[in-house]
Amino acid sequence: MKFLVLNGPNLNMLGIREPGIYGKSTFSDLLNLLEETAREEGLELEQYQSNHEGCLVDKIQEAYGKVDGIVINPAAYTHTSVAILDALKAVSIPAVEVHISDVDAREPFRQISYPGLACIKTIKGQGLDGYRQAILYLKQYLS
Ligand code: DQA
Repeated sequence: MKFLVLNGPNLNMLGIREPGIYGKSTFSDLLNLLEETAREEGLELEQYQSNHEGCLVDKIQEAYGKVDGIVINPAAYTHTSVAILDALKAVSIPAVEVHISDVDAREPFRQISYPGLACIKTIKGQGLDGYRQAILYLKQYLS
């Protein structure tokens, strides 16, 4: 089973950006967590982070026919990107949306998710562990 983990803008700044909201763990801690989870679960996992909407769309399109499941934190594009929503719909790969923070408890504009409309599940407010939970959920969903 092969999964693609996608992270949107500013998530490469984890540990530096707003630690009161996103915690002190760094992006490299997240990559270690993903690697460890993939190893434990016997999964092949590719990760990709971009600050550019079109690059994320390209990566989703490239996953067609090659990837069994997608874990995506579209970050700020969550609240604006019909393009990412359409890309997820186009490839029809089961996807789980992750947010490190509890977006529902924040500003009203963060309570809208376009990519989430094409996802089988959304995990929010669980910190970095949300990614692990998303991987486990997808694995079970596909088994
Ligand atoms: C986020 C929440 C978004 O609202 C924000 O723009 C992010 C991160 C999260 O993981 O909590 O960049 O997706």
